[in-house]
Amino acid sequence: TKRVAILISGGGSNMVALARSMTRDHPARPCLVLANDPTAGGLTKAAEMGIPTAAVDHRPFGKDRAAFEAALTEAITPHAPDMLCLAGFMRVLTEGFVSQWQGRMLNIHPSLLPNYRGLHTHARAIEAGDAEAGCTVHEVTPALDDGPILGQARVPILPGDTPGDLAARVLEQEHLLYPAVLRRFAAGDRRPVFLPEPAG
Ligand code: GAR
Repeated sequence: TKRVAILISGGGSNMVALARSMTRDHPARPCLVLANDPTAGGLTKAAEMGIPTAAVDHRPFGKDRAAFEAALTEAITPHAPDMLCLAGFMRVLTEGFVSQWQGRMLNIHPSLLPNYRGLHTHARAIEAGDAEAGCTVHEVTPALDDGPILGQARVPILPGDTPGDLAARVLEQEHLLYPAVLRRFAAGDRRPVFLPEPAG
């Protein structure tokens, strides 16, 4: 069984979807939920699910990303994960950290990569007049929101959609896509998962 540490920054709805998916027959199980914000709502949810939690506040480290990442490693190592899942983790990780987890770290991003790396993906997709949006799970490499694509799910952009409307529609798919990818990836299968567009 693969031990998975899940890194979050906020509410952790993707973390909950991942944790719930790791039932007895699953090739992985959660060993840690780690947040860069000690007040992240997802920490409480993880604790309620009986998952060990930790927080490494990034703020005292200022611009010293290497020191922040050393503290992350120190928090992670005792839990001996085989892999990391970034799930709404909003800090950019440098090559020094990423290279330690090469091929063993996944991220979910709320766009159809390679479109809209970075922030405000839904507002940018609406502004561009796109007909659809979605989410992508990919392997983390040192370049931001890059790396081999392991799965995508698409949703329509509807007339009058606000970024919030679209975010909610995409988030529902994130909760299906990320567990589907993790199950495959943890079993050693790196073929991408493409979910069908939701009916409706
Ligand atoms: C999700 O939509 C995730 O794709 C996004 O943050 C949200 C976290 O929600 N991630 C990024 O934007 C990464 N740059 P959650 O905390 O409820 O899972």
